[in-house]
Amino acid sequence: MVTHTARVFSGVQPTGNLHLGNYLGAIKNFVALQETHQCLYCVVDLHAITVFQDPAELRNNTREVAAAFIAAGVDPSQHIIFNQAQVPEHAELAWVLNCVARMGWLNRMTQFKEKAGKDREKASVGLYVYPNLMAADILLYRATHVPVGDDQKQHLELARDIAQKFNNDFDRPDFFPQPEPLIQGPATRVMSLRDGAKKMSKSDPSDLSRITMLDQPDDIARKIRKAKTDPDALPDSVAALEDRPEAANLIGIYAALGAKPLNVVVEQFAGAQFSKLKEELADLAIATIGPIGAEMRKLMDDPASVDVALGDGAARARAIAADVMDEVREAVGFLQAP
Ligand code: TRP
Repeated sequence: MVTHTARVFSGVQPTGNLHLGNYLGAIKNFVALQETHQCLYCVVDLHAITVFQDPAELRNNTREVAAAFIAAGVDPSQHIIFNQAQVPEHAELAWVLNCVARMGWLNRMTQFKEKAGKDREKASVGLYVYPNLMAADILLYRATHVPVGDDQKQHLELARDIAQKFNNDFDRPDFFPQPEPLIQGPATRVMSLRDGAKKMSKSDPSDLSRITMLDQPDDIARKIRKAKTDPDALPDSVAALEDRPEAANLIGIYAALGAKPLNVVVEQFAGAQFSKLKEELADLAIATIGPIGAEMRKLMDDPASVDVALGDGAARARAIAADVMDEVREAVGFLQAP
């Protein structure tokens, strides 16, 4: 067994309205992982176009995600941030993996069923093979660790199956490592502020349902103040949060933003009214994500600087990807210029 060098890869889709759920569920962890791993963080624009994107909005949303990475504290000189479309090896490896993955495997993907909805005939072919492209993202860098939210676990398992089948088919036992999911701490599932049973979402018609990374402090405070509550005082145990979705959500967000264990925060607010929690949560949210939003706005005002950072990251990503892709072509039996 060769052991592969530990390497982190993750991707975020540039589909706009980057919100607190994206930050706590993904980006905040990206920042922490820099201390211990070599990291690649990718704005997955190729994934985004599996559903139609307005080109001008796609450009803007791609910069928004890159700006969020940088503003949150990802260091683009020590690690790599880039957008997928600038490294053509992603699409190239995805094609090879399209020929490794089986229809039966993709037919089991629950996210496709959800996203395609009732009229599956009208879904793009890209949406169907989306998980193969995600596998390509990860395997192209031989990434060993992949921070993902709960909803991406099935895709990661598919990437593991694809890696294994590739290694078997081409008789290269250690060609691709088996990527491991890194699932995150409290409040990785941030719920809607209007309905504690629904995930916070970029596409919820209510603006009040989400805190976006570009919200001004006033907006953050207003949205938290208007968040849905239930009539009771806050509970005194983690177990009692079970059937209190709104309390669980606000307390979970507080814990995640403050990097405190859930039980500590539950104790802090035990018996208090929602109003007290909301007041302190607003202060904490403004103190933690307010400066990130301000820095993002600065970066977005100078789009050329973001484009330069992405271009530089893409060049460094491509240096790794090109070598792996050469090995893939050789393994598969594609002739290459001598
Ligand atoms: N599918 C992921 C999501 O929607 C984004 C993604 C694309 C990704 N490629 C990836 C995540 C590779 C981790 C690794 O959240």
